[in-house]
Amino acid sequence: MNILVTGGAGFIGSNFLYHILEAYPTYTVVNLDKLTYAGNLENLEGLKENTRHMFVKGDIANRNVVESILRDHAIDAIVNFAAESHVDRSIMGAAEFAQTNVVGTNVLLELAKELRLKKFVQVSTDEVYGSLGPEGLFTETTPLHPNSPYAATKAAADLLALAYHHTFSIPVVITRCSNNYGPFQFPEKLIPLMIANAMQEKPLPVYGDGLNVRDWLHVSDHCSAIDAVLHGGTAGEVYNIGGNSEKTNIELVKLLLKILGKSESLITFVKDRPGHDRRYAIDSNKIQKELGWTPAHTFERGIEETIMWYLRHQDWWQRIISGEYKEYYQKMYEGR
Ligand code: NAD
Ligand code: TYD
Repeated sequence: MNILVTGGAGFIGSNFLYHILEAYPTYTVVNLDKLTYAGNLENLEGLKENTRHMFVKGDIANRNVVESILRDHAIDAIVNFAAESHVDRSIMGAAEFAQTNVVGTNVLLELAKELRLKKFVQVSTDEVYGSLGPEGLFTETTPLHPNSPYAATKAAADLLALAYHHTFSIPVVITRCSNNYGPFQFPEKLIPLMIANAMQEKPLPVYGDGLNVRDWLHVSDHCSAIDAVLHGGTAGEVYNIGGNSEKTNIELVKLLLKILGKSESLITFVKDRPGHDRRYAIDSNKIQKELGWTPAHTFERGIEETIMWYLRHQDWWQRIISGEYKEYYQKMYEGR
């Protein structure tokens, strides 16, 4: 199979490339990535010698670029990771989110239709369902109720993808995953941000009361789920993917500090994120029953391995946080 992976220089996309190229020795992959602030070619160092991986710098919203890739490489399937992915940035301004997440996805869908691709995996998020109260889980039939600009653009893309399936029989499948953690996550997100700050003895900014809940999944389990959906998912269907591992933010931050051997006095409660979703938690029964997927990592093992990875790869995140990230951090956290 020849696959176009978009956003493969980001966190989950790069992990997926390692997974798919290793699992399927005959597959070739073209990786189209715009290299925004979140795209990092260092994430792909381990693929330098791999002749089955080809990197193209470009925008998913550029029809000509996407069309040439699809034709020149006889692409069978698209796995669309490319997105603006950070809720806080979408609160500062959502134009890029609408452009990439909605307009860009539409370009990919139009071309999938014209070139009759065999599969289109739209990598989405549980955030399209909105926020849960203290009880209950998101299922695939939970109504969409996105609360952040980020989530709204992801929901729009999901609806477009489903409409292309309904109207033109495009073999679209949608995955909606909970919060990921693992190697190569950009340090604007909770876990790598807290690890990096703790390592530098900087304050750990916990939003609001710290009691918001996320359901954490190791990125390699997300990748194996996308693999299962790419190969076995039924066109027109949605598959939820979760870690069955709910943690409050404060519980998680304290655990990170404990493993790192750092003091809880670094924790600083800061002004809450506007519109902050209280709780996400996923029911993954459908993908488990229909496609036989199960997560391989327990949270306890996964988080220890992840912390070790960030300790061993300090150069990787130090390079990121010493660049334009500094300006972002100042804008987002100073005086908060
Ligand atoms: P990321 O921000 O780390 O990476 C996004 C990648 O997309 C970057 O390499 C960036 O350069 C690229 N990109 C952005 N705009 C582009 C464009 N117009 N054309 C081509 N490439 C572009 O994001 P991530 O955390 O790896 O998330 C990947 C996908 O998974 C996203 O669609 C996100 O919505 C979804 N998702 C993420 C999580 C999570 O916990 N991180 C959970 C569920 C779903
Ligand atoms: P994040 O990693 O941004 O993922 P998402 O908002 O998509 O779930 O945030 C995870 C949780 O951590 C969320 O409840 C917001 C909270 N958070 C903080 O408390 N402090 C921070 O500095 C960040 C980035 C997040």
